[in-house]
Amino acid sequence: MIDSAFLKENNARYLWHPMAHPNDMHENPPKIFVSADGVELTDVDNNRVVDAVGGLWNVNLGYSNTTIKQAISKQLEVLPYYSSFRGTTTAPLIELSVKILDWFKPEGMCRTFFTSGGSDSIETALRLARQYHKVRGERDRTKFISLRRGYHGTHFGGASINGNANFRRNYEPLLPGVYHIPAPWDYRNPFEETDPQKIAKLCANLLEEEIIFQGPDTVAAFIMEPVLGAGGVIVPHETFMPLAREICTRHGVLMIADEVITAFGRTGAWTGSRLWNVQPDMMAFAKAITNGYFPLGGVLLNEKVVESFESNRDSFGAIGHGYTYSGHPVACAAALATLEETARLEVARNSRVVGEHLQNGLKKLEEKYEVAGNTRGIGLMAAIELVSDPEKKTPAGKVTSAAFFEAAYQAGVMIRVSGNNIILSPPLIVTVDDVQRIVNAADLGLAAASKTL
Ligand SMILES: Cc1ncc(COP(=O)(O)O)c(C=O)c1O
Repeated sequence: MIDSAFLKENNARYLWHPMAHPNDMHENPPKIFVSADGVELTDVDNNRVVDAVGGLWNVNLGYSNTTIKQAISKQLEVLPYYSSFRGTTTAPLIELSVKILDWFKPEGMCRTFFTSGGSDSIETALRLARQYHKVRGERDRTKFISLRRGYHGTHFGGASINGNANFRRNYEPLLPGVYHIPAPWDYRNPFEETDPQKIAKLCANLLEEEIIFQGPDTVAAFIMEPVLGAGGVIVPHETFMPLAREICTRHGVLMIADEVITAFGRTGAWTGSRLWNVQPDMMAFAKAITNGYFPLGGVLLNEKVVESFESNRDSFGAIGHGYTYSGHPVACAAALATLEETARLEVARNSRVVGEHLQNGLKKLEEKYEVAGNTRGIGLMAAIELVSDPEKKTPAGKVTSAAFFEAAYQAGVMIRVSGNNIILSPPLIVTVDDVQRIVNAADLGLAAASKTL
């Protein structure tokens, strides 16, 4: 057994961590977690903390789900791997391909293309969207439109539609033919408007204007997260996604819902599209499909898209895309168990009910602390935006976020810092007591953050 001194000595020295500067990881080494149970993590110094991050928006059912663990170990014994490239498949993949459609029946999904994660799913959705139009003979429809502040992973396609310069600048030039419209967000928007419904309409108008400006017959798809996650938990007004759906339909543009975070109950509805009463043409999922225990993702396709491919017998309909781990049998076994457990534990309902305590608790903190410029969220996804000047909404600096993080950790809660946002996305099995611990830690975090100003 490797001892803790070895772990601390070598922490972040020989690897580069995602989404971090290597030097910063040397100076402020990452927390080393050694075990977890329920909704709590234990670090190398034996501190126990509530995981208010839920892994990375994926451990919806916590760390102790034995049903999923057993399904994984059983599948590892029986058939640890085989590919699903043309000509071969496996039993868990076939079973999952049937069962997953039950979940997405209300959205009208009827086929799935499996991948190995969120970025892969987004890449797949973008590629299949272009191919859909080619199959139908509309070969100029190659462009994509997305929301500023949106996050869609880090592949070149995903980074191109991404709405945050941090994930773009150092990797440019990105994909040509990608255009962004403002996110429907009441706290910050270019319209100096605060009415969420008016903002939704203004953003929808800009979407239509952009489609018309580009030429509708050149636009392949519009993609959005039903609730924007990593960009700071931005909850669009309920009218936005239906308006965007209607505009896409009118102009023959596919609507892709990036449900990598929002599928499987996070918002309090089983999917983000269902929350807003929308049927997209494609839906990307990943993360909670296996409770984070094994990598898997996928893209769901509706009848319209499927029909175009499957009625096409020439080479345009053949899919020249896929991953070695598309539909990995162990991942599929994990997903089958996760879907059953997700339904059994009724986590969407818990997310709605317990999430209300979280959102209310945070709103009270917003009133108490000036540094909490804005708190927002839905279900069990929330953000506290830290500002140094509440009037001007000036984003607080790194020192302020770091002070929040350490104070919350000392109070027994792991939170996530993303720029000047504190992001909260605990497992969906949390209780009201767990949420109260998170809110109490946020209270201490904000007190510490305030002292840095
Ligand atoms: C909405 C959304 N799309 C795509 C991704 C990319 O997923 P992955 O990190 O599994 O590649 C993420 C990751 O957080 C996400 O939140």
